Amino acid sequence: MSKLLLVTSSLFGDQSKSSQLAGEFVQAWHRSHPGTTVVERALTAESIPHLSLGALGALMTPAEQRSTEQHATVAFADRLIEELEAADTIVLAVPMYNFSIPSTLKAWIDHVARAGRTFRYTAAGPEGLLKGKKVFVITGRGGVYTGDSPAKVFDFQEPYLRSVLGFLGLTDVSFVHVEGLKVSPEAAEQGVARARDAIAAHARASAA
Ligand SMILES: Cc1cc2nc3c(=O)[nH]c(=O)nc-3n(C[C@H](O)[C@H](O)[C@H](O)COP(=O)(O)O)c2cc1C
Repeated sequence: MSKLLLVTSSLFGDQSKSSQLAGEFVQAWHRSHPGTTVVERALTAESIPHLSLGALGALMTPAEQRSTEQHATVAFADRLIEELEAADTIVLAVPMYNFSIPSTLKAWIDHVARAGRTFRYTAAGPEGLLKGKKVFVITGRGGVYTGDSPAKVFDFQEPYLRSVLGFLGLTDVSFVHVEGLKVSPEAAEQGVARARDAIAAHARASAA
């Protein structure tokens, strides 16, 4: 049975456009892949701490020498990694904050990028270990950064995510951008409609 991991990261919960459209994506995926199990990881400042010196120290301490607190710290990061490893399909709902990703998503990345587990260094260079998975990133953006938009150069969201996901071995990555959400009500409507078309096209292609 296939497994889908949905990671949401907006501050706005149910009102988030990236989360709403990612939800629609998951429903469409379910229709074309019945029986898929969905696990959701909602990232908030309360649910995911920044990587700390203490957390790094816990990881570097041999398991049999860890304190109870260190065991809990490592178990939390292990759980996040296990969710990724178990998934065949990963859907990331990502608002654009200050031209990049939310700090909670960065904290998640800091926890799951672990040498020897999700990537390793070899004589030929780094090798990502999360292979053979499909990733769909549904972004929410106030402005427009695609096509011939002059704001394109400010998009540090898609290039960063492509790089870091690729570093972990996740190279089959498709983006659906929900853009223009703060430009005007009409632009927002258009942005959502375009994203819905893109989601339907992905659902058709994946079912074929
Ligand atoms: C803290 C913060 C920073 C933002 N920075 C940007 C930005 O740099 N560029 C942009 O186009 N929109 C920016 N926005 C607008 C959001 O991208 C937009 O509201 C979008 O809907 C967020 O996705 P969501 O609806 O899933 O939360 C920002 C919003 C917030 C709250």
